[in-house]
Amino acid sequence: MAAEQGTQLSEAQIAVHWREENYYHPPAKFIGQANAADPAIFERFSEQRFPECFKEYADLLTWDAYWHTTLDTSNPPFWKWFVGGRLNASYNCVDRHLATSRNKAAFIWVPELETEETKAITYQELYRRVNEFAALLRDFCGVRVGDRVTFHLPMVPELPVSMLACARLGVVHSEVFGGFSGVACGERIADSGSHILVTMDGYYRNGELIDHKARADEAVAKARDLGAGVDKVLVWRRHPGQYASRSPMVPGRDFFVDDLLRDYRRTVVEPVSMPAEAPLFLMYTSGTTARPKGCQHSTGGYLAYVTGTSKYYQDIHPEDTYWCFADIGWITGHSYIVYGPLSLGTTSVMYEGVPAYPDPGRPWRIAERLGVTIFHTAPTTIRMLRKLGPDEPPKYDYHFKHMTTVGEPIEPDVWRWYHDVVGKGEAVIVDTWWQTENGGFLGSTLPALKPMKPGSCGPGVLGVYPVIYDENGAVVEAGSGRAGNICIRNPWPGIFQTIWGQPERFVQIYYEKYCRNKQSKDWRDWPYFAGDGAVQAADGYFRILGRVDDVINVAGHRLGTKELESASLTVEEIAEAAAVPVMDELRGRAVEMYVSVKPGVAPSRAIEEKVAKAIETEIGKIARPKNIWIVPDMPKTRSGKIMRRVIAAISNFTDVGDTTTLANPGVVDDIRHHVQAEKVGRGEVPRKLSPQEIEEIKAFGRAE
Ligand code: PRX
Repeated sequence: MAAEQGTQLSEAQIAVHWREENYYHPPAKFIGQANAADPAIFERFSEQRFPECFKEYADLLTWDAYWHTTLDTSNPPFWKWFVGGRLNASYNCVDRHLATSRNKAAFIWVPELETEETKAITYQELYRRVNEFAALLRDFCGVRVGDRVTFHLPMVPELPVSMLACARLGVVHSEVFGGFSGVACGERIADSGSHILVTMDGYYRNGELIDHKARADEAVAKARDLGAGVDKVLVWRRHPGQYASRSPMVPGRDFFVDDLLRDYRRTVVEPVSMPAEAPLFLMYTSGTTARPKGCQHSTGGYLAYVTGTSKYYQDIHPEDTYWCFADIGWITGHSYIVYGPLSLGTTSVMYEGVPAYPDPGRPWRIAERLGVTIFHTAPTTIRMLRKLGPDEPPKYDYHFKHMTTVGEPIEPDVWRWYHDVVGKGEAVIVDTWWQTENGGFLGSTLPALKPMKPGSCGPGVLGVYPVIYDENGAVVEAGSGRAGNICIRNPWPGIFQTIWGQPERFVQIYYEKYCRNKQSKDWRDWPYFAGDGAVQAADGYFRILGRVDDVINVAGHRLGTKELESASLTVEEIAEAAAVPVMDELRGRAVEMYVSVKPGVAPSRAIEEKVAKAIETEIGKIARPKNIWIVPDMPKTRSGKIMRRVIAAISNFTDVGDTTTLANPGVVDDIRHHVQAEKVGRGEVPRKLSPQEIEEIKAFGRAE
C-alpha cells in the first residue's frame, strides 16, 4: 500500500559525489541598481526577527484595515498570517496603479502567429475589463464571496482578467492548465465544487488553432459523472465575434463572453474587502495518490509574499519590461506573471505560444522588439532553445539584466549556456526552487548579494530557513555530502493554507513526518516536509535532487505515477501498469509505461496506442509516455508489490541491483533484453548518467 510520504531515505543518504561548481559573481552594473543591495537585509530577515520581518513584504500592499497579529499559530499547522488585516487583491494589482500609471502597459500580449499584432493592455484598460467581467460573474452567474469558479484557459489576456475579476469579488478561482484534458478539468471542477466553467473557443499552438471548447464539453460530462453540476460555461472567443470551435454551443448552458459583456459596459464593481486569511485561489497538483490536490492559497499572506519576492528576487523596477515565459496555468504564472508583477505595477510580456514557433529565434525577437530586461523560464525551455538554435541569441539586439530558472534541476552545462549565450554574460541568474504548495520562492540566491553556483538554487530565501533531515529527523550537516529530505523549519506568508476539502491529508503529507509534538502550538515543532531530496554544500547552498514521492517531473510538470497508472488501467485489456521516469535530453525526465495485459489478450501496437490515448484523455498530451512496453509480467516482491526501481533501471540502462528477493527474478532479464534491444534500435541509449541521476533511479518507488 502506498504510504503518503514514507520515504526510505536510507537510499538517498548514500553519499552523493559531484564536482563543486565555481561561483559566478553578479555584474557590477546589476548590483548598482538592485532593489536589495545592502547586506543589512539579511539581518532584517534573520530568525530573531521572525515573523515580524514579513511586515516588510506586507507593507508593499495597500490594506483596507491593518492587521493586528503577524502570525497566529494557535491551530498548527494551519498558520494564519496578518490576522485582522483586510484587503482586495484586484485592487492591489490594478486600481492602486491608476493614479500614477493608468497609461502604462500592464501586459504586452504576443500572439503565437507573427502575422497577428502584439497587443498592449494598459492598467486603465485592465481596470475596465476586470470590472466588466466581475459584473458579469456577479450579476449573470450569481457567484458570491467564497464560491469557486474553474477556468480552463490558455495564455491569453482573458486569463488574468478572469482571475482578477474573481479576486475583486472575493470569489476563489481555480485555473486548470490549458494543456490538461477535458477529463482532468472535470475532475478538478468536481473536487472544487464549482458550478461555472470559463473557457475559450480556441488558441494557437505550433501554428495550429486548437479546438479548446470541445474539452469543456468533456469536462462538464466528467464533472456530471462525479456528481457535480456545471450551470454555465462562459466561452471567451480568441477572435471576438468569430467562433473557432466545431463543438456546438449548448443553449442555456454555453455563452459567448464577448456577447454578454455588452450588457456590462462601464459597470464598476467595488472591490470586496477580504480578510487576509480568505482563500484567493486553488491550484491543483500531483502527489503520491491518484487524486490531485487542490492547494488553497490565501489573499494577504500570498500577495505579500509574491510581491516581496518579485521585488527583491526578480528585481523588478518600474522601468523594466519583464517576461516570465511560463504558463499561467501553473503556480509560476499565478505568482510571477499575474499577482507579484501586477502588484508592483510592472509591464509584463505574455506570450501565447510554444518557444520555437516558427523558429528558435522567436523568443529573442520578442525580447529585442519589446526591450525585455528580465527573463524568466524553465530549464526545459532553455534546453530546447539550445538544441534547436544554439547560435540564435547573439543575432538579436536585446540585453537582459536578470534571468530566472525554475521548476527543475538545471544541469550546470545548460546553466552556462543560459548565462553566456542567452544572457550574453551580462545578466545575473537566480535558480529558484519552490513548489505549487509554497506560493513563492523558497531557495534562491539574492541576486546582488550572493554569488551564483550553476546547478544549485542557493540558500533559503529571506525569512525562510531550510534544513535537511534524515529519516529519523536528525539534521544532515551542510558539507557532509549526504542527501536527505529538505524541510522548512518555519512558516512563511506564501505557504498554502490547506488541501481543498482534505485538511487531514494536508497535515499528514506535509507535517506529520517531522512534527515533534502534535500538541505544540510552537511553529518550531512543525517543520514543513517538501517532498524533495537535497544536499547542502559547505557554503550553505542547496542542490535539489528531485521528488521523493514518485512524482515524475516532465518538462517542469508534476505527474503522479498513480495518475498515469490509473489512466492506463482504464484500457480494458490492461491488467497492471507501472510508470517510471527516463532521462530525457530535452524534457529532463520523460515517462515510460510498463503494462501487462489480461490473460488471453495478445500484445499489440494497437493496445500500446490505446494506453497512450487513455493517458492523453485522462490527463493531457503533456503526459503522453515516451514508450509503452507490454511485458509478460511485472517484477514483483513476494508480497506482490511492483518493483518500479527495477524497471526504471532497465529503462535508463543502469544497474538493476539485487533482484534475488523478487518473486519472479527471471522476468527481469527477459524485460531487459526486450526493452533495451528495442531502445538501442531506436537510438534511445541515454548519455552516461551522473551519480545523482543514478541515485534517483535507484530510489524510485521508495514512496510505496
Ligand atoms: O522537485 C522540485 C522541482 O519541482 C517541484 C515542484 O513542482 P511544481 O509544484 O510543479 O512547481 C514548479 C514551479 C515552482 C519541486 O518539488 N523544482 C522546482 N524548482 C526547482 C526544482 N528542482 C530543482 N531546482 C529548482 N529550481
